[in-house]
Amino acid sequence: MRFKDKIVLVLGGNSGMGLASAQAFAAEGGKVHLTGRDQATIDAAVASIPGSTGYRSDIADIAATEDVVAQVEAADGRIDVLYINAGVGGFAPLRGITPEDWDHVHSINLKGCVFALQKAIRIMGKGGAVVVTGSIGAHGALEGNGTYAAAKGGLYMAMKVFAKELVAEGIRLNMVSPGPIDTPLLHRNPGMTDEQVAGLKQMMIANVPMHRMGESADVAKTVLFLASDDSSFITGANIFVDGGLLELR
Ligand SMILES: NC(=O)c1ccc[n+]([C@@H]2O[C@H](COP(=O)([O-])OP(=O)(O)OC[C@H]3O[C@@H](n4cnc5c(N)ncnc54)[C@H](OP(=O)(O)O)[C@@H]3O)[C@@H](O)[C@H]2O)c1
Repeated sequence: MRFKDKIVLVLGGNSGMGLASAQAFAAEGGKVHLTGRDQATIDAAVASIPGSTGYRSDIADIAATEDVVAQVEAADGRIDVLYINAGVGGFAPLRGITPEDWDHVHSINLKGCVFALQKAIRIMGKGGAVVVTGSIGAHGALEGNGTYAAAKGGLYMAMKVFAKELVAEGIRLNMVSPGPIDTPLLHRNPGMTDEQVAGLKQMMIANVPMHRMGESADVAKTVLFLASDDSSFITGANIFVDGGLLELR
């Protein structure tokens, strides 16, 4: 019960690793608030998490995030744990990138996440913990991944700076960087058939030293560690949850 009496806000908590983490926070006593864009999966997430509250809110809309924070404040007065997890994929080689696709991915994966942190810390204080989802994609060159890698790479560096700034406020900030994790994200690539997704999974598994894709629960365990007092002397860190993909190259 590491999160007993803790107020937890998960941005992007209605699917994949965000949902698994939200459920795990609640299982350890946390009072969970979660956001997403899709009302049906927000409702399903809230139904699966006793005492939780869901908000339909696009992280690219900074005013909307500010409003969520105000609603959490009205309900519970503060945030103890903030998990900034919302993110989208975006695959295109250099010649295929459009300014619109670039802005879309960056408005969510970088700008939206940075301003979510700025808005949420208003009601966070000493002892608070922030966890942010990065990606191994920011730490290696994968053809076609330029837009996404730039956004997550920018997020990685921005969060390091903010972790240092937040030390004075007694707030720890750490990043979890997943490798290939079996979540709905893979199925959200427009134009990719189920067969192509299956092929992509096999290719990923072949490259992972532990010879499997990660599960959302693998990421959630690391998120809870970084959000809890178990990591009380850790800030500004980045943990790869990737079956050894990066560290054992
Ligand atoms: N799966 C992987 O292999 C992998 C690897 C490295 C990093 N990641 C990162 O892990 C994070 C979670 O992804 P996942 O794999 O669990 O995929 P997922 O199941 O697609 O979950 C993505 C989450 O982000 C939310 N989200 C996306 N855009 C949003 C927006 N504009 N505003 C608010 N919420 C938004 C989604 O809500 P809606 O469903 O309502 O849009 C959903 O809750 C992402 O940041 C992703 O980049 C994933």
